[in-house]
Amino acid sequence: MEFNLTEEQIAVRDAAREFAQVELLPGVIERDEHQKFPTEQVRKMGELGFMGMMVAPEWGGSGLDTVSYVLAIEELSKVDASASVIMSVNNSLVCAGLEKYGNDAQREKYLKPLAMGDVIGAFCLSEPEAGSDATSQHTTAVDMGDHYVLNGTKNWITNGSTATYYLVMAQTHVELKHKGINAFIVEKGMPGFTVGIKENKLGIRGSDTHSLMFQDVIVPKANRIGEDGFGFNFAMGVLNGGRIGIASQALGIASGAYELALEYSKSRKAFGKSISEHQAIQFKLAHMATEIDAARLLCLQAAWLKDQGRDFAKASAMAKLFASRVAMETSVEAIQIHGGYGFVKEYHVERMMRDAKITQIYEGTSEIQKIVISRELLK
Ligand code: CAA
Repeated sequence: MEFNLTEEQIAVRDAAREFAQVELLPGVIERDEHQKFPTEQVRKMGELGFMGMMVAPEWGGSGLDTVSYVLAIEELSKVDASASVIMSVNNSLVCAGLEKYGNDAQREKYLKPLAMGDVIGAFCLSEPEAGSDATSQHTTAVDMGDHYVLNGTKNWITNGSTATYYLVMAQTHVELKHKGINAFIVEKGMPGFTVGIKENKLGIRGSDTHSLMFQDVIVPKANRIGEDGFGFNFAMGVLNGGRIGIASQALGIASGAYELALEYSKSRKAFGKSISEHQAIQFKLAHMATEIDAARLLCLQAAWLKDQGRDFAKASAMAKLFASRVAMETSVEAIQIHGGYGFVKEYHVERMMRDAKITQIYEGTSEIQKIVISRELLK
């Protein structure tokens, strides 16, 4: 068993760490406060190759492995979980979906600019009445021969207003249930496609989350991904990889909060000594560090299995289930170690606690991860 990282993986991790400190840290509190999208920072992430990390160079990507992706997402998430979800959705849902399941014409037209970071993508599965129960798609796509006509509403769409290309799931053959669902590439600006108001969220407030409306939107047949009826399996296959991204985001939130708490505990004095010299704090730090290491191992295991071409659905669900709980608990404990200072914005940990919550919800709630894991166990 090999636990050492390659020189390339270390270089990616270090580049991401430096980028997070230099480019993301300044302004992260303000972006959270004002729900400001990190436009300039995302542009630079594209220049550094972070927006299409695992895409082959021939399609505009960096050609890196999933382990490198986990390392990069962790580093960015330590500082700014809004920037990292923008990156995660673009990489492991949109780019990965197009590279694996799209055809060459779709890869040329859509994947290349997405992987190079020239444009951003969004993944549109959730609906007002189809969140966890994702097979219940109400958005319809009527087959008109050379094109489809889309009608319906999507909810909670990350990169909702900033995206240029949207992967949209819709029901074509209602009688076939999930086997009648298709996935389409929809372009911003197609007549009848409108973006709803921005959600005012508890956390990841720098990312833009919107509902989307489709009213008689004409989508060419050439924009359907895969065979007729492949859309639900497409979404599930893509989400298995996406969950590695969100697990790594949760890991980064946890390790970022832990590192801040560790430093604070060494400088803050109480009862005549640093609070890190009190066993009450030492035990908290020991617990946090152990949980974070376990979460990191689960994330890396899922990434490694994916890189080996092996089945990773259970491993990615386990990584997300575990790491998201660790993110929530660690960020709460980090506030506790900070005391009153943890409750104010300047010390970052209150934002991390707010950001952590969504990792237990999006790309499949913790309850959905347990469904995925138990079904794999009982196969
Ligand atoms: N990997 C691959 N295939 C899977 C799968 C997985 N993890 N889970 C289900 N499937 C396949 C099944 O094999 C089945 O395919 P076949 O019929 O071809 O055999 C098909 O999907 C339907 O599965 P079920 O019969 O098990 O359907 P179900 O309704 O009982 O359960 C579910 C499905 C697993 C609960 C699914 O609905 C699900 O994953 N729900 C959560 C949806 C989700 O994660 N949404 C996230 C939104 S995207 C987002 O958050 C992005 C963002 O912006 C950050």
